[in-house]
Amino acid sequence: MFVALKLTYTKYTIMFKKEVYIDRRKRLRASMQEGIILILGNSEAPMNYPDNTYHFRQDSTFLYFFGLNHPNYAAVIDIDEGKDILFGNDVDIDDIIWMGPQPSLAEQAKEVGVELSNNFNALFDYVKKAMAQGRKVHFTPPYRGATMLLLEDLTGIKAQTTKAKASVELIKAIIALRNIKDKYEIAHLDEIMAVGYEMHTTAMRLATEGAHEQFITGSVEAVAYKHGGHLSFPVILSKRGETLHNHYHNNTLHNGDLLLVDCGFDSPMGYATDNTRTFPVGGQFSQKQKDVYEIVLAANNAVKDAVKPGIMYKDVHLLAARTIAEGMKNLGLMKGDIKAAVASGAHALFMPHGLGHMMGLDVHDMEGYGEDYVGYGDEIKRSTQFGTAYLRLARELKPGFVITNEPGIYFIPALMDKWKADGINADFINFDKVNEYRDFGGIRLEDDILITQNGGRIMGDKRIPITADELSKIVGTGL
Ligand code: GLY
Ligand code: MN
Repeated sequence: MFVALKLTYTKYTIMFKKEVYIDRRKRLRASMQEGIILILGNSEAPMNYPDNTYHFRQDSTFLYFFGLNHPNYAAVIDIDEGKDILFGNDVDIDDIIWMGPQPSLAEQAKEVGVELSNNFNALFDYVKKAMAQGRKVHFTPPYRGATMLLLEDLTGIKAQTTKAKASVELIKAIIALRNIKDKYEIAHLDEIMAVGYEMHTTAMRLATEGAHEQFITGSVEAVAYKHGGHLSFPVILSKRGETLHNHYHNNTLHNGDLLLVDCGFDSPMGYATDNTRTFPVGGQFSQKQKDVYEIVLAANNAVKDAVKPGIMYKDVHLLAARTIAEGMKNLGLMKGDIKAAVASGAHALFMPHGLGHMMGLDVHDMEGYGEDYVGYGDEIKRSTQFGTAYLRLARELKPGFVITNEPGIYFIPALMDKWKADGINADFINFDKVNEYRDFGGIRLEDDILITQNGGRIMGDKRIPITADELSKIVGTGL
């Protein structure tokens, strides 16, 4: 196959203007009672020996308040004294030989509106002094071993318990800020959606008879890298789409296979995109595939039309569940009263996951702070029912939220067999009919949505092809 490579490259912003960071820190300080806030940036993580490191990914909390994409930095936001200090080490001559001249720490601090900076060791004295004065030291839950050890060295709290000792007051204050995307974040997210679009349409174009999943996966990854970013999470791409997060890419594709592609861009500034499309290799659905596809698309569209400020996302999840259950009843796979079936969780045989999550600097935005704090808050308790229990975002939607809308239908043989054997929701499921779809695979359709003042809109200039007609025009056409 001859593939003509497109040579377009988009240079994305690497930092907002300093006023954005100054304002974020000011608002955080104003919403906290007292003490100091420790914001630890990430360090390099070795891959197979110390100097051979993974791609550096800065901590998202550090990026949000300090914007500097640089390892081994930390910062203090001092609530009591109303000041911010950046800690890190200037490069020495050895570093310059390998890395070239670098801006000084003080120069970098100024770029994000921070007047005070000091070497990294000074952080130890700062924290010790604050603790000796009986001031509270706030930090978010660490998710890397190196950060846990650093926290132990700084505070004396045992590394294993640092996560449990994170400041709930700080977590809630940061979530209140980060949940609402500002106009700069929205503009950036809107522009980087073009990369997500290109990643997905690249996969679509390459999905031809005889193509290999790994070749398409690598081609999708190349799109993210060539635009100067990375992946917001490892690419999920498989014709066995019934496995929700399938990272096995070793199948050869044949016309008519359903290929599920779930992937996104991590921009140079650390913002994510996250989309899923499912389409038939070669571009033509069978009738059986199309029947199920149209149900997922109807659920996705119903959600897109329903979202607005004031509505609970849990209710939107249940709207998607009803749309799926109704569709499955029309196909003869479910039976009985649809409201009762959804109340009983019967739809979760086909959609055993939640409708979506927050998105921003993390693809599952702020999940490291604790999913319930982000997606539930004090407003609502997480369901314990199989399926709905996995809903990451349930709370009331507000203007400025960026969320994913990702309904799906999956035929998971092990789950089908278990439910049938255990008689789970037998009043609502036609197990014999379901068994006819044993080899079907799975379909998920995911868009990223901004909640506006009176509704919601799909982010970016244009929606990634999603109708059967749109897909038939692009799938398998080559690059
Ligand atoms: N797109 C991957 C996820 O949301 O988990
Ligand atoms: Mn997602």
